[in-house]
Amino acid sequence: MKERLIFIADKLCKNHSLTLEEYAELIDGYDASLAELFAKRAREVRKEVYGKDVFVRGLIEISNYCKNDCFYCGIRRSNKTCERYRLSREEILSCCEEGYALGFRTFVMQGGEDAFYTDDFLCDLIRKVKESYPDCAVTLSLGERGKESFRCLFEAGADRYLLRHETADETHYASLHPTELTLQNRLQALRDLKEIGYQTGCGFMVGSPGQTTQMLAKDIKWIEAFQPAMCGIGPFIPHHATRFANDKAGDVGLTCYLLSIIRLIKPNILLPATTALATLDAKGCEKGILAGANVVMPNVSPISAKQKYELYDNKAYGGSEAAKNVEALKKRMEAIGCRVVTDRGDVRL
Ligand code: 5AD
Repeated sequence: MKERLIFIADKLCKNHSLTLEEYAELIDGYDASLAELFAKRAREVRKEVYGKDVFVRGLIEISNYCKNDCFYCGIRRSNKTCERYRLSREEILSCCEEGYALGFRTFVMQGGEDAFYTDDFLCDLIRKVKESYPDCAVTLSLGERGKESFRCLFEAGADRYLLRHETADETHYASLHPTELTLQNRLQALRDLKEIGYQTGCGFMVGSPGQTTQMLAKDIKWIEAFQPAMCGIGPFIPHHATRFANDKAGDVGLTCYLLSIIRLIKPNILLPATTALATLDAKGCEKGILAGANVVMPNVSPISAKQKYELYDNKAYGGSEAAKNVEALKKRMEAIGCRVVTDRGDVRL
């Protein structure tokens, strides 16, 4: 059994590709010793491309208004107990200013699907950020917006776009989302983003309600085919005001194992150790990096926004102000043999 799994692991390292069945075998065979073997190889592969470097992104949560009603998400439309906020242009620009001083060279503007942020508003904002900080990248994470909107934001200067596919299985997608959201539209949006020229990121939750090994294998196989520049993977964490309030959270170890597998599929992928990982485990960030992740996204939103951007319960936001968190992060990364760099952190070829 173990020998078979090691054989598959070797094949993955060599070919960067496996069959759906082989991915399922790896996922089923997950245990701590196999995870350590994968993590070690993932670190070696990452080192060849990125050395010791860990990239940081200044995460700005611009709005928790959302027109969608995803069943798992704390900021979904029908959660009447969610206290809504949105940041103004000036507030967002001041987050960038603070972030730049702290050494961030990528700003990630993330939010619910909020019609307040029109193409005109965002294009103007993106142009302003790029003009003020020509050495910075702008990443958007604002949900599905339609191809023309994606194109106009790209032309205004946005470099990257994160849009998790959530699950590559139709039935599972439908069990997590209302009928107006479809996997087909989600995947089309991802293909559009890539075609327009964005460095595009997909991703999924580990341990979301109803998820099976077969579904996870499908996620991995889909990622292998799509070849994203980035991939965000975090454990599912229940939110008290959703139908999944009493479901159990995803597993940190399995999440890290999948990070390693994805690193082996695509050695130069930009792979964050996500906030959800850090929320479930005080050492989650280190564990993610040690499994092969190479990106951390500290939150530079105003403190009031951080607290209200509650996708799931007890979301970690570093505890103190951004400056202190960055200092602490640098030390934590050094302690595991890595180095936080002041760099746009593009995909290295
Ligand atoms: N647990 C973990 N991740 C979640 N997300 C939304 N709700 C949850 C939750 N309860 C993730 C989704 C979404 C991203 C913004 O946050 O994958 O794409």
